[in-house]
Amino acid sequence: MPRLIRAALERAGVRGPERVSSGVDVVGDIAIVRLSGFAAKERRKVGESLLEEMKNVSVVLEQEGGIEGEYRLRKLVHLAGERRTLTVHRENGCAFKVDVARTYFSPRLSTERLRVAEAVGAEERVLNMFAGVGPYSVLIAKRSGARVTSCEVNGLAAELHRENDRMNKVEDLVTVVNADAADLPGLVKSKFDRILLPHPSQADRFLPVALKLAAPGGRLVYYRHVLGVDEEEAAKALRRELKGLLPPRSRSRLRRVREVGPRWVEMVADVKLPR
Ligand SMILES: C[S@@+](CC[C@H](N)C(=O)[O-])C[C@H]1O[C@@H](n2cnc3c(N)ncnc32)[C@H](O)[C@@H]1O
Repeated sequence: MPRLIRAALERAGVRGPERVSSGVDVVGDIAIVRLSGFAAKERRKVGESLLEEMKNVSVVLEQEGGIEGEYRLRKLVHLAGERRTLTVHRENGCAFKVDVARTYFSPRLSTERLRVAEAVGAEERVLNMFAGVGPYSVLIAKRSGARVTSCEVNGLAAELHRENDRMNKVEDLVTVVNADAADLPGLVKSKFDRILLPHPSQADRFLPVALKLAAPGGRLVYYRHVLGVDEEEAAKALRRELKGLLPPRSRSRLRRVREVGPRWVEMVADVKLPR
């Protein structure tokens, strides 16, 4: 039971804390909670209590259900504070304008984004096939000075990505393509040294496109949601999947990124393709 939620329930005098399992996501000055199983009045009380406790928060929203649809969106209901879903989130020395209801964003991936950005060299050509509002691409460009092409199908996310490029002064390094990643081979001219596929529920469908666009000896950063009781089991399942999809002599290093549900793990494969 997350500490902040437990404290908010106690202060609000709401019983039944055993039903809350996930913590609070804070994106900019917006807090997002999950309170399934509570009555509407109790939810609002918890929202008010969180708003009072978290001094940097101006909006409290409740997430109903999971992350859904092509754009990977949360269904959000207002609980307390201002009525808006647009905010500016800061992480790893960058600032990102995000609409938490109409674009995807998870503050839980900041460490993973830094890990990926730290591996990129200035001379690399980088492609991010599922860029969202730009948290990977902007950080990579800012830290490494590499050129990055971002693809994003959600028009609003692509628009915010361009704003974020300007806000972080990397607009000369980053190009945003508002398109379906499946169409990229007809839209981009160069091959890429490093291709990111940060779309863990669908990345397998797009791996053939990534392979078409990768330079010989290039690298892929491939994210997947995998069913498994632990990292070892999840890694085994992912290795099996990759064996069927990657060219022979590819080398992959697998790591656990985070838990995404009961028995579901988000894994990343850092793949080195053959020359
Ligand atoms: C899991 S989110 C990751 C976004 C971003 N990388 C981040 O970490 O915030 C996946 C993103 O891919 C976008 N997307 C989904 N299908 C797509 C497609 N076929 N082509 C391009 N983008 C797509 C969604 O709109 C969403 O923004």
